[in-house]
Amino acid sequence: MVIKSEESQIYVKRNQLNIAGIGLPGSGKGTQGMHLKSKYGLHSISTGELLRSHIEQGTEIGKLAKHIVEVEGKLVPDELIVKIYSEELLKPNFRYGHFGDGTGRRLNQYLSYEKMLGEDFYDGAIYFNLHPDVVRERLLGRLCCNECGAPYNIKEHGVRVGDKCRVIGCGGTLQPRSDDKLERIENRISEFEKNSPEYLEHLRRKGILWEVDSTMKPAQISHIINGFVDNAIAKKLNTPILGPKHFHITDLSKLGEKTDE
Ligand code: AP5
Ligand code: MG
Repeated sequence: MVIKSEESQIYVKRNQLNIAGIGLPGSGKGTQGMHLKSKYGLHSISTGELLRSHIEQGTEIGKLAKHIVEVEGKLVPDELIVKIYSEELLKPNFRYGHFGDGTGRRLNQYLSYEKMLGEDFYDGAIYFNLHPDVVRERLLGRLCCNECGAPYNIKEHGVRVGDKCRVIGCGGTLQPRSDDKLERIENRISEFEKNSPEYLEHLRRKGILWEVDSTMKPAQISHIINGFVDNAIAKKLNTPILGPKHFHITDLSKLGEKTDE
């Protein structure tokens, strides 16, 4: 079934579509999250952005995460991620679905989400496949908005430190991210290489993994992603739509439970 682009946008506004985004640091999760927002109105949740905001505000979560994120470049404990992610999903913006930018990085995190939200909660998972050599180059040339987190590239966008963010109405300024230093980038790459294979394999077995070659230009990648999203919607339209799928996160104490028994 082929559907028109406008139909997809209307679908996303009225129904629920949930997509996970996985990939190495710098593989383009944030860039394509912005595309999904402008093209489909699909809201993005980035656990990295949420952590940076907690760190900036000096919350308890921020204090726990600060050293791990900014200095070690390692993954923060699963319980903490599951907590901040599930709290975000309850906000009105995300009622009709979302793009989860790096919200799952270990199989155990994903299994917690399945337990909490249902095994068919995610309609698809985009794997941004990129070689680590490209990652280093991209991240060393990246500047991010200090307000909305939008990523830019010195080479691609001709931006400089201190420039204004180009997102309409944002007003933030561009600066390097504290974890975009070579040593931290190496740690982030090795965390991904260590933790993602069994997670990706799980998604592949479930039949919801959409892989994209992230060496392509952002616009080409967006085009391919549009195809994934439109197909996912077309698949849903073949079944009766009774309104948004409801999800309830009632028992936060379950979040720390082991999910592999
Ligand atoms: P997070 O903020 O998510 O960082 P990350 O995963 O390292 O990914 P990045 O944001 O660096 O890259 P991106 O894929 O968004 O690429 P972007 O679009 O910006 O997480 C930070 C930290 O929080 C983690 O290290 C961890 O400590 C913790 N954390 C977060 N989630 C967690 C979880 N679930 N569990 C445990 N810990 C967690 O693009 C990069 C650059 O390339 C930009 O300059 C961009 O302009 C450019 N670019 C993008 N696409 C292209 C393209 N196609 N061609 C050329 N250039 C491109
Ligand atoms: Mg990002």
